[in-house]
Amino acid sequence: MPAHPSVTDVADPAALFRLDGTVALVTGAGSGIGALAARVLARAGATAIATDRDPATAKATADAILAEGLAAASYTLDVSDEASVVAAFRAVEAAHGPVGVLINNAGIAKRGASENLALATWDEVVSVNMTGVFLCAREAGRQMLGAGGGSIVNISSMWGHVGGGFAPNLSYHATKGAVVMMTKALAVEWGGRGVRVNDIAPTFLRTNLTTHLFSDPDLIRRFDELTPLGRTGVPNDLAGALLFLASPASAYVTGHSLLVDGGWTAR
Ligand SMILES: NC(=O)c1ccc[n+]([C@@H]2O[C@H](COP(=O)([O-])OP(=O)(O)OC[C@H]3O[C@@H](n4cnc5c(N)ncnc54)[C@H](O)[C@@H]3O)[C@@H](O)[C@H]2O)c1
Repeated sequence: MPAHPSVTDVADPAALFRLDGTVALVTGAGSGIGALAARVLARAGATAIATDRDPATAKATADAILAEGLAAASYTLDVSDEASVVAAFRAVEAAHGPVGVLINNAGIAKRGASENLALATWDEVVSVNMTGVFLCAREAGRQMLGAGGGSIVNISSMWGHVGGGFAPNLSYHATKGAVVMMTKALAVEWGGRGVRVNDIAPTFLRTNLTTHLFSDPDLIRRFDELTPLGRTGVPNDLAGALLFLASPASAYVTGHSLLVDGGWTAR
């Protein structure tokens, strides 16, 4: 077990949020939350490894970071394909060293009434949202355990905590609930070896995943009314939570699901 720290003061609070020298791999970094995460972590000093199943969008994210004079690279990684996950993590370790932060972000949604939900659709969502999170956590975990520590931030959803009621989405609720539980189980399993595992559970955010929902003004008005902070979210609303959980600022936090939902689930 790690020794109890004897520190009784924090000399430089801002330094707690720095990630200098850390290799931070983001899945689904070609769009939305993943692209935001790669930018934020790079600006905090990390080498941002932008990965996506779509190589062009991953490269665009990395190129935008490089254009700021920060450190980044892009890799093709399909989280639902074990060979792709293993190959990408091996290539990243060989080129940049072990991954110290994983933002386990790639995810999909296939909404529709449960009584008509096809098994193939269910399987597709499970393979990305649940198996993908497992595979990437496994590969990152191996590198982090070997290096003596690391931080995994899974992106779940408030729909992993509550049952929804807006657009039927059973496979999404089930897989995001599984992410919340994988977070706890991995945190318990790896905590003694220096690897922290937490998740962020966002509300509706304006990204490619939700374009069609945001095109329904009535739905958004109802959502805004039900959100104590009075509005739906944007990816930037997650920046602070991502940086907190990725960095030493959260050094004594593990197994936590951090709702970033404008207060939705507090009702
Ligand atoms: N947008 C929201 O309202 C919201 C709310 C809660 C949670 N989330 C979660 O946040 C995460 C990111 O969502 P987003 O809103 O940024 O979506 P998005 O559609 O904007 O981006 C998702 C990215 O993941 C990539 N991707 C999809 N399948 C992949 C796979 N098999 N392997 C690798 N990459 C893959 C896509 O190419 C895309 O670049 C997802 O896990 C989603 O469930 C989103």
